[in-house]
Amino acid sequence: MSGRAKLGVLVSGSGSNLQALLDACARADYPAEVALVVSNVPTAFALERARTAGVAARALDHKTFGSRADFEKALGDALEAAGVEWVCLAGFMRLLGADFLRRFPGRVLNIHPSLLPAFPGLHAQRQALERGVKVAGCTVHFVDPGMDTGPIIAQAAVPVLSGDDEAALSARILAAEHRLYPLAVKLAVTGAVRLENGRAVSSVGPSVDAAGLRNPGEPG
Ligand code: GRF
Repeated sequence: MSGRAKLGVLVSGSGSNLQALLDACARADYPAEVALVVSNVPTAFALERARTAGVAARALDHKTFGSRADFEKALGDALEAAGVEWVCLAGFMRLLGADFLRRFPGRVLNIHPSLLPAFPGLHAQRQALERGVKVAGCTVHFVDPGMDTGPIIAQAAVPVLSGDDEAALSARILAAEHRLYPLAVKLAVTGAVRLENGRAVSSVGPSVDAAGLRNPGEPG
């Protein structure tokens, strides 16, 4: 692949992870650029973020399609027409089927607000609090047809503090997400982490960010 990798970013909501990717792509030495942002929710603030960054953005409301297959076909067509090579799910609240994934083999990434395989699915932060874990975090993984089950590219850990409620823990994890997603995308598009026999194999050592676990004042 020559030049910068072309990303398609799929969103449904606020798009703060999209913003982190847009900010990374604004740096001249970053190996990717955002070619298209698609939201299945027409009112998503993420679309505003894309337009502000001067990036092509469109809404594809899944509710206006007769079937999931029709929606995913239109989505894949839009991404391909924009020259997208890698698809990044960033708060995209739809599961993608095998037909869609086959169009971008091994090139669909997702970010999830837990240390997978713990707490897949909705309300991961609430699940973590209810279970009483002391370390939480986020994961970027290759997408397979399961729910948050694909091979793990990179993870970042944060502490769960006494007195945390769902909002406080979510905010701490989200800050880690904003560091992790650009890093993981870079690892994937440069081939530093690649899929081999259904596992993500790294040629650059462990892709772990535990900076958030250090005590304040402790040297990095
Ligand atoms: C993030 O916590 C992400 O991990 C999850 O949905 C949230 C999206 O937030 N999949 P944003 O839209 O990127 O601000």
